Amino acid sequence: MSRRKVVITGVTRGLGRALAEELLQGGHSVAGCGRGQNQIQELKEQYGEKDASFSVVDVADAAAIRRWASELSESWGVPDLLINNAALMNRQANLWDLSSEEFSELVDVNVKGVTYVIQAFVPLMIKEGVGVIVNMSSGWGRSTSPHVAPYCASKFAVEGLTKALAQELPSPLAAIPLSPGVIDTDMLRICWGDEAGQHQTPDRWAKQAVPSILSLSSEQNGRSLSL
Ligand SMILES: NC(=O)c1ccc[n+]([C@@H]2O[C@H](COP(=O)([O-])OP(=O)(O)OC[C@H]3O[C@@H](n4cnc5c(N)ncnc54)[C@H](OP(=O)(O)O)[C@@H]3O)[C@@H](O)[C@H]2O)c1
Repeated sequence: MSRRKVVITGVTRGLGRALAEELLQGGHSVAGCGRGQNQIQELKEQYGEKDASFSVVDVADAAAIRRWASELSESWGVPDLLINNAALMNRQANLWDLSSEEFSELVDVNVKGVTYVIQAFVPLMIKEGVGVIVNMSSGWGRSTSPHVAPYCASKFAVEGLTKALAQELPSPLAAIPLSPGVIDTDMLRICWGDEAGQHQTPDRWAKQAVPSILSLSSEQNGRSLSL
């Protein structure tokens, strides 16, 4: 398989980190971001700067995302795979018990953040004439449960914006909403507590997820997929 250039948001923990590490071990080049300074430093020390580029960037900060995309395009290149993975889960509560600040914070990351990343990177990818955009969706982007209304709203939004984007992109670029399955991460523990431990670890998930994600192409443009 040819060497891919992959941008991933939210690489400090969970699925994003497992994807980044599995891709790097497979010989691909990865540029990733997250807010956690210690974890980004740790990744930099572990993987160096030859095939990897890790940066402290908040996806909810549109200007910081634009700067990151522009710096990367000069120093590292343009991605042929862009994975919008960074997201937040809301505090488990009825919708009417959540504050407007809690709702806004989640929408700023899960919906606006995904949009800022697309707006910063996709014009560069269109210029190169290649690229697949994978936006992490969820089972809760296609069905609902109580106490996760803001998260559901955000992932239904990700499905909608990804499918509309898919209709706009010039061929052979593709945009795909991808539900990753159920994996034991910090996010799952917010919802299910210790029960999350019954599910697979991110590292184990990534071994199967990476080949599937790398195989995505314009054939799947606009389709809601699940791992
Ligand atoms: N785990 C599951 O079972 C499951 C199921 C369905 C869908 N998903 C989706 O899969 C993706 C990954 O989930 P996960 O379970 O790995 O979540 P997680 O363990 O909570 O990790 C989330 C990642 O996103 C980053 N992040 C959060 N806010 C950010 C921001 N403003 N800017 C940059 N990075 C930010 C976090 O890093 P920092 O805190 O360092 O910024 C962290 O690296 C999400 O889109 C989630 O909705 C997961």
